[in-house]
Amino acid sequence: MTKPVLAILGGTGREGGGLAYRWAKAGYTIYIGSRSLERARSAADAIRTRLGNPDAPVFGAENYEAALRGEIVILTVPYAAHRTTLEAVRDALHGKILVDVTVPLKPPKVTKVWLPEAGSAALEAQQILGDDVAVVDAFQNIAHGVLWEGEPSDHDVLVAGRGKANRRRVMELVEAAGFRPIDAGPIENTPVVEGLTSLLIYINKAYGAKSAGVRIVGLGQS
Ligand SMILES: NC(=O)c1ccc[n+]([C@@H]2O[C@H](COP(=O)([O-])OP(=O)(O)OC[C@H]3O[C@@H](n4cnc5c(N)ncnc54)[C@H](OP(=O)(O)O)[C@@H]3O)[C@@H](O)[C@H]2O)c1
Repeated sequence: MTKPVLAILGGTGREGGGLAYRWAKAGYTIYIGSRSLERARSAADAIRTRLGNPDAPVFGAENYEAALRGEIVILTVPYAAHRTTLEAVRDALHGKILVDVTVPLKPPKVTKVWLPEAGSAALEAQQILGDDVAVVDAFQNIAHGVLWEGEPSDHDVLVAGRGKANRRRVMELVEAAGFRPIDAGPIENTPVVEGLTSLLIYINKAYGAKSAGVRIVGLGQS
């Protein structure tokens, strides 16, 4: 099957940049989105350099243009920018999957679970985008350092969101990024996936660690 073109909105940042690196390494065409074309191009250059491949198909674009180009669109901005970013790109997302990586954190108390009124960032995104976009959560529980440095990794990636077929497509991306995907069910389960991140941040602090994650056991497979 041909690989979908991926757009990563906020891909200039720590988490989105790490995902862009992983997928570029796996041979995907990537559009890194930013509010600034210059920042997007420079992030794309940095990834091609890190890959040691000046011809790798990693491009920079403003968020709206990136969202238009992407067949699957990934959102990696801070929660404070979640609604405004989605509203700005909504018209470019019709019929697509939006992979929401956002964790609704309320600084400075990021070790305490906080969820928005809609129940989760994903449920909020689904409300903002309407029914012809499928919102699927993934990578909330993967610290950015793991994306840049942690290969191979035994972290699982919980994938929860609208529609089993959409989750399957996102699970393929999780595998391509080097992680074991776990089907974590419908979008109603996203509050737990997102809330887990505050627990992991707490655990990192309590144990002096940087990359606590989740591993689901008892599945009868490796
Ligand atoms: N960092 C992690 O380890 C980690 C782990 C799991 C999940 N997450 C989640 O992933 C998301 C991104 O995290 P991050 O650490 O990568 O964040 P980040 O580096 O602080 O920001 C990512 C990008 O978001 C854009 N952005 C920042 N503030 C913005 C604003 N006010 N309005 C619009 N765009 C803004 C910036 O892109 P431009 O300036 O180029 O537009 C920035 O490069 C968050 O929701 C976070 O909770 C992070």
